[in-house]
Amino acid sequence: MSADTGSGGQTLWHGRFEGGPAAELMAYTESLSFDRRLWRDDIEGSRAHVRGLARSSIISDVERDQVLLALDVVANEIESGLFVFLPADEDIHTAVERRVTELAGAAGAKLHTGRSRNDQSATDVRLWTKRELAGIARRVVALQRVLLDRAREHPDVYLPGYTHLQRAQPVMLAHHLLAHGWALGREVDRVLDALERIDVSPLGAGALAGSSLPLDPDGTAADLGFARRFENSLDAVGSRDHVAEALFVLTLIGIDLSRLGEEIVLWTTDEFGFAKLDDAYATGSSMLPQKKNPDIAELARGKAGRLIGDLTGFLATMKGLPLSYNRDYQEDKEPLFDAVDQVRLALGAMSGMIATMTFVPDRMRAAADAETTAATDLAEWLVQRGMPFRDAHAVVGALVREALRGERSLRSLVDEHPDLGPDAAILVAPGVSVTRRITPGGAGPVPVADQLERFAAELDRLDEALGAPAT
Ligand code: ARG
Repeated sequence: MSADTGSGGQTLWHGRFEGGPAAELMAYTESLSFDRRLWRDDIEGSRAHVRGLARSSIISDVERDQVLLALDVVANEIESGLFVFLPADEDIHTAVERRVTELAGAAGAKLHTGRSRNDQSATDVRLWTKRELAGIARRVVALQRVLLDRAREHPDVYLPGYTHLQRAQPVMLAHHLLAHGWALGREVDRVLDALERIDVSPLGAGALAGSSLPLDPDGTAADLGFARRFENSLDAVGSRDHVAEALFVLTLIGIDLSRLGEEIVLWTTDEFGFAKLDDAYATGSSMLPQKKNPDIAELARGKAGRLIGDLTGFLATMKGLPLSYNRDYQEDKEPLFDAVDQVRLALGAMSGMIATMTFVPDRMRAAADAETTAATDLAEWLVQRGMPFRDAHAVVGALVREALRGERSLRSLVDEHPDLGPDAAILVAPGVSVTRRITPGGAGPVPVADQLERFAAELDRLDEALGAPAT
């Protein structure tokens, strides 16, 4: 069945074809439903392209100005919701060009000179990704600042540090919070690194091979604020590794948030009781009146699965594609948009939840002051008095085993032990063990005070590297 492409709607390739496209073809291949959000970038790209055409005298300055004026009208129409998309507008590029031609006539029909939707859509996506990834990175830094503020609020609080989710050694709360903060900082560095490779203009590559017309890809790259132009036209339209890289960094951020979320799920249980959520950032139950649920934290955990899907799905799309452009590349947009949207929402919700949650220092301390979490300090105390560590480990291990039988406290056993005694028993007293972690980068209050300063300086460095937000 041949499609009625609507009132005057024509495909961009109608000259070569006898009939119009089938309705099923349009329904299946269109990308307007999702790429219309690229409209600002598409119009920016078109402005740069016509200015380039005029610089190269491919069109006149008058024609350039007619097209620029029409592009302004199109921008206003889309912005205000007055733009009428037609059934034949298979993507945002087609829609904008069609309307420019309606508005600017013969000059409008020159807009696509020397250009293909292949370099055009690649340009749009790169412009969009540059801006959005930088915005995501700024939100990551905002979350890092929340973690820093919360860490500074509780300089004396400590809790158990865990390995295998078993209590291991006490750590300062600030140390635990900043552990997440440093991991997030590496994602910001990854974004900055990825941006270097995203910041390349493909405009001027044409469909795949450049042009017989004297285009000016360096000029249009500079006009669009790209750091440089493509080096190889086949590569410019036939690669999407920068999209995969953006998806990878977004997925890693999602995984960081998932892990942070999982800890908040644990900490807010009655069993841990280390933290309470503010009412504004928790949900209730439709049936169980007493419930207060950490849904933001759970969704941060759950949606990490979806982000991994966005990444792996697109990696599979890229695999096996011959040079250069293939329609498969149209599939870059939905996972990218989804990942950016989800990570942006997650960062906002998690930042608000962490900024407003209440820590419960008494519960943290009580858990951390379990006598056995000082076992390593006892072994290290023996080491400082000349005992080989392996022997010290065995001595303390035997005392722990004895204490766990439940008849004697570890402290009293240490007190009476010939190699240990009262000086060592002090290490088992509440609050002592955490102060013993004195090494650089360690979990005790002395190195953590230093770490707080280093982390604040790190955030300043990241802010500086990200620069002011684009207006
Ligand atoms: N909507 C397409 C995309 O996103 C535009 C490019 C179409 N190019 C083509 N030769 N059919 O990739």
